[in-house]
Amino acid sequence: MLGIIGGSGLSKFSSLGGASGKVVPTPYGDPSGPLVCGHIGGCAVVFLARHGQGHTIPPHRINYRANMWALKDLGVTDVVSVASVGGIRADLGPGCLVIPDQIIDYTWGRGGTYFEDDAPVTHIDFTHPYSQPLRQRILSAALALGESVVDGGVYATTQGPRLETAAEIDRLARDGADIVGMTGMPEAALAREIGLQYAAINVVVNHAAGRGDSHHAISMDAMTEVLRQGMDRVVILIDSMVSI
Ligand code: HPA
Repeated sequence: MLGIIGGSGLSKFSSLGGASGKVVPTPYGDPSGPLVCGHIGGCAVVFLARHGQGHTIPPHRINYRANMWALKDLGVTDVVSVASVGGIRADLGPGCLVIPDQIIDYTWGRGGTYFEDDAPVTHIDFTHPYSQPLRQRILSAALALGESVVDGGVYATTQGPRLETAAEIDRLARDGADIVGMTGMPEAALAREIGLQYAAINVVVNHAAGRGDSHHAISMDAMTEVLRQGMDRVVILIDSMVSI
């Protein structure tokens, strides 16, 4: 069963039919909100708003462990993570949809593993952090739709909630990052730890700090409309992915 985690701009999944919210407690506490169970074209799907239904949970306060645990508990096997990002690479400007294939983690202090306390020490393989079959499903759906998406990219996860400085973005670029967001980790690693297939659709909503038209500052107003249009495209893409 498919699970969808919606980020900023996607706190409801408009095409989810017959939806009902389930409160799912976990050993790690409460997820970001009720998990919404419904159907897309006859397929069962679960949706979770990462920042809570009223968009009140900042990236560093999200209970990532509870979120992934709750999805698994409801029978989800494959998770598509949707999130907005800033574009670092010059060709990844506002409006691009990126299906990343690598992650660099700059976050700290987030509950980032299930393997601590009484659990045996376990080191998962994370060479390729995203599920290739799930990425391929998204890419095939995009191709079938004629939707333009970028196949691959390195996602840098920063701590937030503030945006980065121009010098921080230069450093991320030197590290090889193409896009920057605040929620990709530890979500991806936790998915791997509990055996969930995980892939992401990232909507570029701004040039990262110091780049392109964000040379002087990042305009929040400009982001809003790009975010809305981008998320509308993501919903169509996921609908098509479920039905092929
Ligand atoms: N930086 C980090 N996270 C983001 C950005 C950004 O520029 N844009 C959207 N999410």
